[in-house]
Amino acid sequence: MRATFAIQKFNPEIDARPHLEEYRLDVAWRGNTVLDALFQIKHQLDGSLTFRASCRSAICGSCPMVINGRERLACQTLIADEIDRSGRIEVKPLRQLRVVKDLVVEMDPFWSKVNAITPWLTPKREAAFVRHARGEIGEVMIPQNVHQTFYNVDACILCGACVSACNSLDVSPGFLGPAALAKAYRFVADPREGERRERLERLTREDGIWDCVRCNFCVEVCPKDVQPMEAIIRLRREAIREGLTDHPGATHITAFMDIVRREGRLNEARMPLAMVWPNLFRMLKILPLGLKMFVKGKVPSFFQRPIKGIREIRRLFRLRETFK
Ligand code: SF4
Ligand code: SF4
Ligand code: FES
Repeated sequence: MRATFAIQKFNPEIDARPHLEEYRLDVAWRGNTVLDALFQIKHQLDGSLTFRASCRSAICGSCPMVINGRERLACQTLIADEIDRSGRIEVKPLRQLRVVKDLVVEMDPFWSKVNAITPWLTPKREAAFVRHARGEIGEVMIPQNVHQTFYNVDACILCGACVSACNSLDVSPGFLGPAALAKAYRFVADPREGERRERLERLTREDGIWDCVRCNFCVEVCPKDVQPMEAIIRLRREAIREGLTDHPGATHITAFMDIVRREGRLNEARMPLAMVWPNLFRMLKILPLGLKMFVKGKVPSFFQRPIKGIREIRRLFRLRETFK
């Protein structure tokens, strides 16, 4: 099979900006991966081509790249599949991170964010170890059903593909990002963790869990089914349960739920007020927009009757309380 590869090249010592370079290659076997092709190009056509790789088995997380517009592990992406889908193969480095050379990006900002969430257990003394009858110290085993709550996030290989795909990072470079937050959930969910609330407090500050715009891109590109967005949603749920609701993202959820519980549907007129109440400063801030909308006839009725099936809705809310 003859395939065309367009690979982004950039050597900061000689190039003003990155450019695509084309290579045509005979790929011997349909099972060959994009990483196999990169090695072939390096050995046969262009010794200067620079990329990272190690395990070749989707384990080490070294080889994420943007292949045909999407973040993938090069060692896990079959050339034949890409050719069938797009007719050619375009390979670029990860987004959001500075390009060092060709397909190699600087991972330091990624590691700093992972480091910022304290990526290790800070155990409660009594929960981390047990003293057996004979006196020796032993580990505490986590029951299977508890382990299942964080098994997905445990599978992360820290490749950074999700960070490259993250929409929120495009506009908020300080955002902790999907990989770090998924890891944070791994420790918040651990029954041995001794600083669960402190962790949640930190994560609800600026650049934390409320900065995610829930685009799902991190879930789509993750090669290990970590589902970072799901972990972020669980962190939000835990933060609200802990009463950490002093953030517009949290008040949006609590106000929304409260209105639906009372009226059975959303009340668009009450929602903004419910979100800022009783903070006078925030109320004054939204007042001009509210008045403008009122003058233009865009404010729906403040008073609406609860829907017919409101009893059923309230019963569902009560049921939900019992499952908390
Ligand atoms: S969450 Fe998935 S995509 Fe993100 S770093 Fe971990 S393995 Fe890679
Ligand atoms: S869902 Fe959130 S964390 Fe995931 S890519 Fe979108 S904005 Fe980023
Ligand atoms: S080379 Fe290790 S994940 Fe691809």
